[in-house]
Amino acid sequence: MTESNSERALVIGASSGIAQALIEQLLQSASVTCIDAVSRSLPKKDFGDSVQHFEVDSSHESQIKAFISARKAEGITYRYVVCTIGFLHNAELAIKPEKRLEDINADAMQHYFAVNTIMPTLWLKNLPAVVAKNAPTTMAFFSARVGSISDNRLGGWYGYRASKSALNMVIKNAAIEYARRHKQVTLMAYHPGTVDTGLSKPFQANVPQKKLFTPAFTAQCLVKQLQFAQAEHSPYYVDWDAQNIPW
Ligand SMILES: NC(=O)c1ccc[n+]([C@@H]2O[C@H](COP(=O)([O-])OP(=O)(O)OC[C@H]3O[C@@H](n4cnc5c(N)ncnc54)[C@H](OP(=O)(O)O)[C@@H]3O)[C@@H](O)[C@H]2O)c1
Repeated sequence: MTESNSERALVIGASSGIAQALIEQLLQSASVTCIDAVSRSLPKKDFGDSVQHFEVDSSHESQIKAFISARKAEGITYRYVVCTIGFLHNAELAIKPEKRLEDINADAMQHYFAVNTIMPTLWLKNLPAVVAKNAPTTMAFFSARVGSISDNRLGGWYGYRASKSALNMVIKNAAIEYARRHKQVTLMAYHPGTVDTGLSKPFQANVPQKKLFTPAFTAQCLVKQLQFAQAEHSPYYVDWDAQNIPW
């Protein structure tokens, strides 16, 4: 069976604070009627029959491949793909953003790159199999403004910054290849602003109240941008306010 991709979305990292809000927004505002939601464990929230959950551990490419192959076998292609996978700190792993050179640790750096760069890259590698030949697909990957090399004025956060910069480079590279192989694919590196989730919790003290966004707000901003993104402008590196960020 071959399906139209016009109403189907894939959300990767579906248990994140932002992804949960995104699933709701996609169902409400982007004529999306069907969402495949992928995460390491099944989210607690039940979105009803429109959302199908899949357990995939993105640290194993074999699991990504198996998920994509099964969707391809069903004739599924996606109109929207959003990957929210990202990591900033973890007390159990004793990883927190570095303040100075002396804080850099090889294991922590590897973890930053594994989660922020390599996992999204493995999804990018496998996604062409579920991209329609003659219909648009927009793929957004959650980056961060601190991944901008030219915008870096504060320093610090070596692992997080470098791994998001590397993700940006992968997105830029893939956009060049997609322009040759799948001309209707649009890639986007998205900065959601500072959003009130577990990831930003320890760093919210100096954020003015009106600059600390709810997951619902940034999800709403992203959905608008997904709908208006155009392949000829790919890749985008944009923030929640649709402002371009210098690479
Ligand atoms: N919150 C902010 O202020 C802010 C600012 C700038 C950028 N961002 C970016 O926005 C994205 C979403 O952030 P959030 O605030 O919603 O954070 P969050 O709630 O902590 O979600 C992080 C997501 O990353 C995935 N993830 C983390 N570690 C992983 C691992 N070891 N293996 C596989 N998946 C892993 C989780 O996937 P599962 O669903 O499988 O658990 C989860 O979906 C991240 O990429 C983050 O860097 C956030």
